[in-house]
Amino acid sequence: MMTTKLALAGGALAACMAWNAAAQSAAPAMAVPAEATIPAGPKGLAIQNGRKLLTQTRQMLPKNVGNGLNCTSCHLAGGTTANASPWVGIWGVFPEYRSRSGKVISLQERVNDCFERSMNGKALAYDSAAMNDILSYMQWLSTGVPTGSSVKGRGFAAVDQKLKADPAHGKQVYAAKCASCHGAQGQGVANPAGGFLFPPVWGKDSFNDGAGMARTFTAAAFVKHNMPLGQGGSLSDQDALDVAEYFTHQPRPLYRGKSKDWPSGGKPKDARS
Ligand code: HEC
Ligand code: HEC
Repeated sequence: MMTTKLALAGGALAACMAWNAAAQSAAPAMAVPAEATIPAGPKGLAIQNGRKLLTQTRQMLPKNVGNGLNCTSCHLAGGTTANASPWVGIWGVFPEYRSRSGKVISLQERVNDCFERSMNGKALAYDSAAMNDILSYMQWLSTGVPTGSSVKGRGFAAVDQKLKADPAHGKQVYAAKCASCHGAQGQGVANPAGGFLFPPVWGKDSFNDGAGMARTFTAAAFVKHNMPLGQGGSLSDQDALDVAEYFTHQPRPLYRGKSKDWPSGGKPKDARS
């Protein structure tokens, strides 16, 4: 937004574009540190336990998780997948301003945002052992990424923002490409040993309507590059958008705090509040 205003005001468009291009090319590649770099001793144990908490969240933190998901149901492969909101490099970009919160937030607050929304659960205490272990893992993953730099592949790669979603077509895409794993009713496939083999995408065990994944364009960007699992990039932008509009708007838990989101404006067009 800022760049648009600047460009209009001062004819500085070219300069802004050059700056953006430079910022882009300066983005460090997403490199995951070698396993052997996890140190011995208490810090190494914290890193290992942090990874376990993020991949077995439901089982290990039942008081904080209110649905059938683990953090890595969306942050794929332990948060090491580009364009699936990787955690590589995020240690050095928080605290960060977020328009949804309308303020600068810490990495702890960001983690808790996902506990309360994506996991439909409860925040961890900032000074809890679990929070420190989670941060330790994210810090280790960010080894070598310069402070303040976002890696290439941070977040999700957007789909064409000008497209209009067609949920009726999305329902057909869902039946053809998603239902085999996520279930005809979005309920997922339960693991007889507890939890889910394939996670739910709507219903009581899914993320709530205040989650980033409940936004059509955010979900479309995730789906386009990561789903069907193992076939990321196979859907067109239009198919990804249509199926995202369809499944995000099926019944799901409600997030009570969402009317307080974007307190200073900048609410995106696909926001649910
Ligand atoms: C249902 C999918 C989903 C689950 C499950 C989930 N997240 Fe997220 N997470 C997202 C989305 C979507 C974003 C980006 C939201 C946005 O900025 O629009 C995100 C962003 C983040 C970020 C910030 C990344 C960045 O580059 O700024 C962190 C940190 C994070 N999540 C941690 C967690 C943790 C910890 C858990 C488990 C407690 C978790 N997430 C569970 C979907 C999920
Ligand atoms: C081959 C099975 C498979 C297919 C087909 C598939 N997914 Fe997934 N999907 C998964 C698995 C497994 C995960 C969780 C990954 C993990 O835990 O490592 C996942 C995660 C997700 C998530 C984030 C977690 C959640 O449950 O909210 C969404 C959203 C999602 N898939 C949507 C889709 C959509 C839309 C399609 C169809 C275009 C699709 N998937 C097709 C297996 C599949």
